[in-house]
Amino acid sequence: MIEANNLTKYFGDFPAISGVTFSASKGEILGFLGPNAAGKTTTMRILTGFMPPSSGAASIAGYDVVAQSLEARRHVGYLPETVPLYTDMKVKDYLRFMGTIRGMDTKAIQRRVNDVIQTCHLESYYTAYISKLSKGFRQRVGVAQAILHEPEVLVLDEPTVGIDPIQVVETRQLIKSLGGEHTIILSTHILPEVSMICNRVIIIHEGEIVAVDTPQALGERLQGTERIQMDVTGPPSQVVGALRAVPGVQDVTYTDRGDGRTSYSIVSRRGDEVRANLAKSVVQHNWSLLRLETAAMSLEEIFLRLTTTEEA
Ligand SMILES: Nc1ncnc2c1ncn2[C@@H]1O[C@H](COP(=O)(O)OP(=O)(O)OP(=O)(O)O)[C@@H](O)[C@H]1O
Ligand SMILES: [Mg+2]
Repeated sequence: MIEANNLTKYFGDFPAISGVTFSASKGEILGFLGPNAAGKTTTMRILTGFMPPSSGAASIAGYDVVAQSLEARRHVGYLPETVPLYTDMKVKDYLRFMGTIRGMDTKAIQRRVNDVIQTCHLESYYTAYISKLSKGFRQRVGVAQAILHEPEVLVLDEPTVGIDPIQVVETRQLIKSLGGEHTIILSTHILPEVSMICNRVIIIHEGEIVAVDTPQALGERLQGTERIQMDVTGPPSQVVGALRAVPGVQDVTYTDRGDGRTSYSIVSRRGDEVRANLAKSVVQHNWSLLRLETAAMSLEEIFLRLTTTEEA
């Protein structure tokens, strides 16, 4: 339903994205996860026909976004990063207007405006001026216009940014409910959001895709690594050195708990052996081991580990 093949976009001689390749099948909700300036918006603007790639190709529902731009656009609904809402219009007039400029006939507009008002829970704001709506409700109007012409594909650029926690929950539910019937690609830099809504995640960093997987499999992939928490008595600088020396240990950080013991957080290769050797090392130095347990890695940590370069 969405195909992107080797998309590259230069602004001057700066590559905002390079070699971006992925696809999304019908009904899938694909999360596009990356920090600021990763290239999320750039990719989405290419997919929605707002600008051409420097090289590479993309298609929506089988239509090339450059060569068959009009057809491709007919099949995609787009919620841009900042929704260009006409604030002096009433919600219903704005939606009708968007229907008209998309070439829908009067009957279809009537029917679809009623539908999307319900889908996006805008019933109480039907005749309200957009200027009077809160950010969250404007965002819903943005979603409403994106699905108005019944596109199979939805491209949502940070749909929950800047809205309050209660409305975030509702917006996520709305997006989830749109999946299945629509193929959705949504960008975010909020990690829990991806595991909540998406079937699959693409992690993009500095214009390149660094990982593509299900939220669950991404977790499991890094299960090759695990996080171990230890409480130890002893001089932290020496303890850190000793723990780092244990084979399989990749990183050690610590926090002083103030009661004579220090908590250490260790990222290591998975396995009983590493844990056994950590314990052994502490005992050999005559320090006391007060706690040793493994902690699951959050998607947040996975994201950081995938996007942080070695030297960082
Ligand atoms: N029109 C433009 N002209 C020049 N550079 C641009 C333009 N649009 C984007 N860029 C650059 O391309 C890179 C990717 O930007 P993009 O907006 O795609 O990132 P993003 O992942 O959407 O980030 P954010 O999370 O901040 O929205 C950035 O370094 C940005 O400065
Ligand atoms: Mg962006």
